[in-house]
Amino acid sequence: MTQKTLLLTGASRGIGHATVRRFSDEGWRVITCSRQPFSDRCPWPGGRENHVQLDLSDPAETINAVGVIQEMLEGRLDALVNNAGISPKGPDGERLNTIDTDLLTWGKVFHVNFFASVVLARGLREELAAARGSVVNVTSIAGSRVHPFAGAAYATSKAALTREMAHDFGPLGVRVNAIAPGEVETSILSPGTEKIVENLPLRRLGQPEEVAAAIYFLCSQESSYISGTEIEVNGAQHV
Ligand SMILES: NC(=O)c1ccc[n+]([C@@H]2O[C@H](COP(=O)([O-])OP(=O)(O)OC[C@H]3O[C@@H](n4cnc5c(N)ncnc54)[C@H](OP(=O)(O)O)[C@@H]3O)[C@@H](O)[C@H]2O)c1
Repeated sequence: MTQKTLLLTGASRGIGHATVRRFSDEGWRVITCSRQPFSDRCPWPGGRENHVQLDLSDPAETINAVGVIQEMLEGRLDALVNNAGISPKGPDGERLNTIDTDLLTWGKVFHVNFFASVVLARGLREELAAARGSVVNVTSIAGSRVHPFAGAAYATSKAALTREMAHDFGPLGVRVNAIAPGEVETSILSPGTEKIVENLPLRRLGQPEEVAAAIYFLCSQESSYISGTEIEVNGAQHV
């Protein structure tokens, strides 16, 4: 059997790190992208040769990286997981709203969280189509409701893209879905999250491995007729 290949952004920690471990354990080759160079603390095989150091907030760098990634692929890509994300806060950790957020910040958030996903998916569409592959966008509960800490730029960057991509990539045989985490134990969380967790139906934070499991499902044949959907991974925070 040919080894399957995943391209994942934001692999260096948190949900991305757990996702690489899961796919690697399942026998996939994983190509990773993040701003940091590959770290020897990342314990998956072939990690160094399969890492692309890339700042997704830089549009030219991201567009150029498509060619670099194509050369690493053998004409097919089984899955693209757009996981890298930033969620800037005000100087005292406060939520940045539609009135306060300066346009440079708004633009940077959109380059990392939104445009990079578009550039990578459409740049690699032939490879995804060749594998009848799957795209997973890591969105957020903030994409569908106002969140006490996540800002307006972040929230809007997490809404609507999956629906549009599922419509456009479907004729290529490529499925596009999203997973929307709630409060997951990573460095992106804000002080005060413990107050939200106290009122969650499951009364606990999610773990990165629990998010990775949902991503893996959406990239596997177990979800072969699921496209254009968003799975909430949040301990019932949305109910
Ligand atoms: N944790 C949660 O509770 C939660 C909730 C809802 C949604 N999410 C979403 O889940 C995804 C992963 O978040 P996380 O919690 O795992 O966050 P994290 O621990 O802060 O990790 C973010 C990842 O994105 C990468 N990244 C950030 N800026 C980048 C850039 N300019 N270019 C390339 N890579 C960049 C980082 O790598 P480098 O620093 O090496 O570049 C890192 O690997 C994000 O899309 C986030 O919005 C998380």
